[in-house]
Amino acid sequence: MSKRKTPGDALPGPSGHVPFFATERGAAYLGESRELLRTLPDSSVNLILTSPPYALHFKKEYGNADQGEYVKWFLGFAPEFRRVLTDDGSLVVDIGGAWTPGKPTRSLYHFELLLALCREAAFHLAQEFFWYNPAKLPSPAEWVTVRKIRVKDAVNCLWWLSKTEYPKADNRRVLTDYSPDMHRLLKRGYRPKVRPSGHIITHKFSDNGGAIPPNILIFGNNDANGVYMSRCKETGLRPHPARFPIQLPTFFIRYLTDENDLVLDPFAGSNTTGEAAERAGRRWLAFEREQKYLVGSVFRFDPAGWEPIDLAQHAGTAVPAPEPSLFDSRG
Ligand SMILES: C[S@@+](CC[C@H](N)C(=O)[O-])C[C@H]1O[C@@H](n2cnc3c(N)ncnc32)[C@H](O)[C@@H]1O
Repeated sequence: MSKRKTPGDALPGPSGHVPFFATERGAAYLGESRELLRTLPDSSVNLILTSPPYALHFKKEYGNADQGEYVKWFLGFAPEFRRVLTDDGSLVVDIGGAWTPGKPTRSLYHFELLLALCREAAFHLAQEFFWYNPAKLPSPAEWVTVRKIRVKDAVNCLWWLSKTEYPKADNRRVLTDYSPDMHRLLKRGYRPKVRPSGHIITHKFSDNGGAIPPNILIFGNNDANGVYMSRCKETGLRPHPARFPIQLPTFFIRYLTDENDLVLDPFAGSNTTGEAAERAGRRWLAFEREQKYLVGSVFRFDPAGWEPIDLAQHAGTAVPAPEPSLFDSRG
């Protein structure tokens, strides 16, 4: 990996633009995403995975009109997202909710964005996911810790959208650890019986190598000791303030793409998505308009400093197994 290296021919990078840096599998471009998107070929990207700036970051975000402005802003990218995606491609948007300024009620902007992407930009909602971050601080303080009339908001919505109704996906690539109950069931076998609900479970359980994860993903922002943070510290570079944990893009990249597929993050920030794609053997493109974030992103591509990413230990582990009694072989 070196700065200003030209990515391999296999990477359909924006024509006429020189990458800020490139690796064997990917390239990061400094610039306005909409402009860079226009230069990509049709149907060339398998997965767009991104965390856009939230409505909160829009300075004039006071009430509905400005939240409506956010939806309009995002919709400006949607036709290009659709055009560059393959027919079996996916768009995954990580979007945090917001409070109505000065009031203990929630903004609807992220739901409005979802509706607009489906109704006006012709995307399908393949499935909604929720990222639970146990490390989130209680806020806003006024409603949560002072007046104590709301609870901690600790989930982000992840809208998994697709160009067609059947995007490429394989949940066998993101299996999680079985619960202790399921391990016991697999060991002892299950005797069919009538459940309290009246159902008779006759299904034979077999070991499929892990449990199918739920649509709640549990990842703390725990990269404090990672190579990106330590190199930022060494060089005095301020880390990107809104990074997502690498487990998050890793989950969707494994779930929704094959090896060598192309993953694009059009609001790349510190390029966590690019690092996840590189490690997973996928090609990647990152677009970011702030040079300082791409400078730090270079630190991510140092395999010598890579800790392994184990999704099985993170996804869904704090969620109780569904109907634990179903798997209870003692009865
Ligand atoms: C929430 S951050 C992404 C953080 C990223 N997921 C990470 O883990 O580091 C959103 C990024 O989008 C960038 N951005 C916003 N509008 C953009 C645009 N039109 N073109 C390119 N980048 C943009 C911002 O500079 C910011 O770094």
